[in-house]
Amino acid sequence: MTRGPVDATATAAWQRLTDLATGFTPDLRGWFAADPGRAERLTFTAADLHVDLSKGLVDDEVLQTLLALAEEVGLAERREAMFNGEHVNVTEDRAVLHTALRDPADAVLDVDGQDAVADVHDVLQRVYDFADRVRTGVWTGVTGERIRTVVNIGIGGSDLGPVMAYEALAPYRHHEIECRFISNIDPTDAATKLAGLDPATTLFIVSSKTFGTLETLTNARLCKAWLLDNLGAVDQKEAVAKHFVAVSTALDKVEAFGIDPANAFGFWDWVGGRYSVDSAIGTSLAVAIGPERFAEFLAGFHALDEHFRTTDAAHNVPVLMGLLNVWYTNFLGAQTHAVLPYAQLLHRFPAYLQQLTMESNGKGVRWDGSPVTTDTGEVFWGEPGTNGQHAFYQLIHQGTRLIPADFIAFANPAYPLTDRQENGQSTDVHELFLANFFAQTRALAFGKTADEVRAEGTPEAIVPARVFTGNRPTASIMAPELSPSVLGQLIALYEHITFTEGVVWGIDSFDQWGVELGKQLAQQLSPAVAGDTAVAAEQDASTRALIDYYRTHRRT
Ligand code: F6P
Repeated sequence: MTRGPVDATATAAWQRLTDLATGFTPDLRGWFAADPGRAERLTFTAADLHVDLSKGLVDDEVLQTLLALAEEVGLAERREAMFNGEHVNVTEDRAVLHTALRDPADAVLDVDGQDAVADVHDVLQRVYDFADRVRTGVWTGVTGERIRTVVNIGIGGSDLGPVMAYEALAPYRHHEIECRFISNIDPTDAATKLAGLDPATTLFIVSSKTFGTLETLTNARLCKAWLLDNLGAVDQKEAVAKHFVAVSTALDKVEAFGIDPANAFGFWDWVGGRYSVDSAIGTSLAVAIGPERFAEFLAGFHALDEHFRTTDAAHNVPVLMGLLNVWYTNFLGAQTHAVLPYAQLLHRFPAYLQQLTMESNGKGVRWDGSPVTTDTGEVFWGEPGTNGQHAFYQLIHQGTRLIPADFIAFANPAYPLTDRQENGQSTDVHELFLANFFAQTRALAFGKTADEVRAEGTPEAIVPARVFTGNRPTASIMAPELSPSVLGQLIALYEHITFTEGVVWGIDSFDQWGVELGKQLAQQLSPAVAGDTAVAAEQDASTRALIDYYRTHRRT
């Protein structure tokens, strides 16, 4: 087992970074002017990803010291421990092996006496067979009709990954099968997603690692009732068998719910929910894009895993990006981190990253229980460009806060379109889109000086309002196109960035105890909401009054 968590703030590198941060005056204009090799030197390749970090607020000395910090906290050692199946999820005493989900079939990985890779490929084969049967119409509903809609019921990691990837890979989808995703316990979600569906052609996938999540089980029961109420006179057991499959680590609970274990796909406790889109949790995606594309998706993850595991730290993209995030968060005072995909297909990617990064690194104690002595985690958020440009970019450009931003774009569009104007001029719309990406990262880095504003004839009184200070850090990530493989690479990139930061902070990035209290209280409060006055009386004054407001305003 590896050594205990290192207090990063007690290392020599941390002390040096603190000194470097004091009076740090970033000067991207000056740095680029003085160093013609900066862009090339700070641009890296990881599989198909081209990553330009040169517009980051970092000079060589800071970078070298961040790399020294990675050594002092034992990043490489901890990375090996994770890949080798040691129980790096300390508070749950579990291995963390999402990387085994994308290992090639000929790899071998012993986890507690069992070959994890063989298990992964057994399940994968079953998922692929199922996906093929649905896609080709061999799998039919109880009335013999082929499946037209697949509804994934799940929440958190059992929803965000599948829905994000389904949206991102829209051009690869089966044309005659639609997927829908029900997650929220707000009944509106189930009601609106079921609207217009034909039960005879609808298949439900209940996705839940624990098969104990209130939202998912409630929605699964709602969907079962909807199916049986609307199918007409059919054998109920057969109807459930033909219209419900499950994905879970708790196959006994699946059976208790009434789903035939033959129609259940398992996974393992060493796959965290937010790291599970590449497990059987991705079954809806496998149906949508087909086994071949799903295999490419997994190969993309694996390519990034190999990069992370084998590339020296000074050229290792997730390591460098994770360390830069530490620099911004702990030394330059950044509180949030924007993710700005210049790809409409990635519109759910920021939401996906919110769970990945914030459920992983939103921790206040290290993995040995000692309190951290620095800030952890970043608030991840974002929207696709150019929509964000017309909403919140003002604050990124001219506000008082430092907001590091990752820009993501692709050389080739999913849907090439040309804008033909009345005057005969034609514009490739994707090129116009990319021009915005390049313009934004350039404006953020280099800004606009008062003299440049004046030279445009701006009245002196409003010169200050039109100055851009620049020195707003960005990372530019590009790839040839948003293929299944590249999507896998992007997800793995952020998984490993998150890991890198977690190791620096000495936290367990793989537990999520912080979501438990709210769940427990919801169970306790639910009788009060339904009218149990004794339970209501036990609540604090504010909660009591809110329940009372609900009880007096609800339409009975
Ligand atoms: O929000 C807490 C959490 O446990 C997530 O980590 C997980 O992805 C989600 O709930 C759903 O859990 P399950 O897949 O067990 O239903």
